[in-house]
Amino acid sequence: MHRSKSPVGLTVALLAASVTALATPTRAIAEAALTIHYDEPLHAVSPTLYGLMTEEINHAYDGGLYAELIRDRAFFRREHHEFVKIWSLDQNAEDGISFSIDDKTGPSRALPYSLRLTAAKASANDPGGLDNPGYWGVPVRPHTTYRASIYLKAGKENAGPVTMAIVNAASGKVMASARFPAAGAHWKKYTATMRTGEVRASQNNFVRITVSHPGTVLLNLPSLFPPTYHGRKNGLRIDLMDKLSALHPTFLRFPGGNFLEGNTLADWYDWKLTIGPLVDRPTHPSPWGYESSDGLGLLEFLEWCKDLDMQPVLAVYAGYALDQQHIKPGPQLEPYVKDALEEIQYVTGGASTKWGAVRARDGHPAPFPLKYVEIGNEDFFDHSGSYSGSHGRFAQFARAIRKAYPGLELIATMPVKGDVQPDVIDDHFYETPAALMKDSHHFDTMSRKGPRIFVGEWASMEGTPTPDFGAALSDAAWMTGLERNSDLVVMASYAPLLVNVNPLAAQWGTNLIGYDAKQSFGSPSYYAQSMFSGYLGNQVVASKLTGAGPLCFESVTRDAATHTLYVKIVNGTPKPLPLALQLEGVTSVARRGALVTLSAGSTHAANTLADPRRVVPHTEKVSWLGAHLRHTFAPYSINVIEMRVH
Ligand code: AHR
Repeated sequence: MHRSKSPVGLTVALLAASVTALATPTRAIAEAALTIHYDEPLHAVSPTLYGLMTEEINHAYDGGLYAELIRDRAFFRREHHEFVKIWSLDQNAEDGISFSIDDKTGPSRALPYSLRLTAAKASANDPGGLDNPGYWGVPVRPHTTYRASIYLKAGKENAGPVTMAIVNAASGKVMASARFPAAGAHWKKYTATMRTGEVRASQNNFVRITVSHPGTVLLNLPSLFPPTYHGRKNGLRIDLMDKLSALHPTFLRFPGGNFLEGNTLADWYDWKLTIGPLVDRPTHPSPWGYESSDGLGLLEFLEWCKDLDMQPVLAVYAGYALDQQHIKPGPQLEPYVKDALEEIQYVTGGASTKWGAVRARDGHPAPFPLKYVEIGNEDFFDHSGSYSGSHGRFAQFARAIRKAYPGLELIATMPVKGDVQPDVIDDHFYETPAALMKDSHHFDTMSRKGPRIFVGEWASMEGTPTPDFGAALSDAAWMTGLERNSDLVVMASYAPLLVNVNPLAAQWGTNLIGYDAKQSFGSPSYYAQSMFSGYLGNQVVASKLTGAGPLCFESVTRDAATHTLYVKIVNGTPKPLPLALQLEGVTSVARRGALVTLSAGSTHAANTLADPRRVVPHTEKVSWLGAHLRHTFAPYSINVIEMRVH
């Protein structure tokens, strides 16, 4: 891994140095020249070059993409302290209301406990209960239907029907509410819908669960969903899915990242505990300091792939934890190998296979396509060497997976020794903008004889909580290198992808897409990436950039079938870049085409919730294209010219 920083904190310290490096004026540029040989395709562009990497970090799922609005809905046992912080007594009715965790009864084996709510004096005029703040607010929109559900069991004296409401924190006004009937003597799931009327969109709301009759009720898994992407019941947030879709991703690497590994061997990503009804998912600790609801579990990852037409890159747990403990290769590791094989069967097996049948039971009879399986995450941190030898953890997994699924391509997380070699190696690059820009030629001279490369995590680390324009410039420079070398680099994914911008929600400094409970925004780097993936041919064309200095970069791809040429120019200098472009090997070039530009006056420019479109691409229809043209590109700019050629 190439890392010039780690989580939150260091980014800020590095910011000044790296920006200065970017901004140092270069010598005055006379005229640079770009010569393109349209008729000299060098190699295919990997069809899976750009994709997504995600994990539960920065409240990426809970409080992010996963649309659930109630926080700590399972009263996480491991976090009783957090439980106390998150749920509170309804401020209007403190008298006579109490709650506690009942460890003796719960709705399932996975959730064998519940919340016991007792009301001494509640009445229709003075109901009492509990408040939940959501994930730093609960978003409300006008004329919107929300799906509510809860597991209930009556106490000795039945407290009667239970109401769930969204309440505005400023006015105390109920924005929408639903009523569940009085609970019976046994655990049962109740569902209801609630609808807002003519209300103003807001997020300064909370969820209130009340009873209006003295007595006791036990509850677990209160849940509230707004409309979701494609209307999926246990689904994902629409604005974030729209943003991800606009990145044109071809794959999704999941579930991590460190989230795959866990802090200790006990905290590994046990996929079997993330499938089936929510009540059968016990939750587990994310290594990023909070409990994961696992509401977005293995099947939801796969449906996410389906919804955005991405292929899954399935990371299987390989027996290593972040505290540097590992499971010894050999018999002790065998149960985990079996587990990975079963996971692959859950994804790809027909409904007549054991785990394919479980997937069908979970609501998806058709198998999912799968080409790549990644074994572990960042195993170079395991200094014991247990991963990489010919009898190491990688080899043990690889032998078994290849035997059962010979068609799969296997990704190792570091170079491995011995006869069992991976098809692809995942390499990670977290660098300052100046360093990543410099490194954009990283793959130019690398041997093509070994495994291909997956850049499974990369980012210029500048800007918090999302990258600034200086980072976007180096990210763009870096992507020119990925494209030029996409015979070797088969896949690449920026990380981390998502951040809830509430300061208490984030663990990592620089992240691609920011949001709060109600809205979201793409960073300049997000827009650079959407430009690079949205304007991409299927072959790399020979090109040479001269006289532009070391801070200008190019990548040229074509789609011969549609006669389209995409010329990408990154001007990383604070000066305009006059460029003479010469196109060889063409008969004619249409004068009309498009120029897409992302630029900003300052490398510090950033997008925020308050100003989400400060740095966005501008698309201009141009009519000055030709086989020989001159154009001056703006200082600090990322550009794509789309041309039609014959
Ligand atoms: O992207 C954040 C973390 O960086 C990932 O979890 C881990 O793989 C890497 O160290």
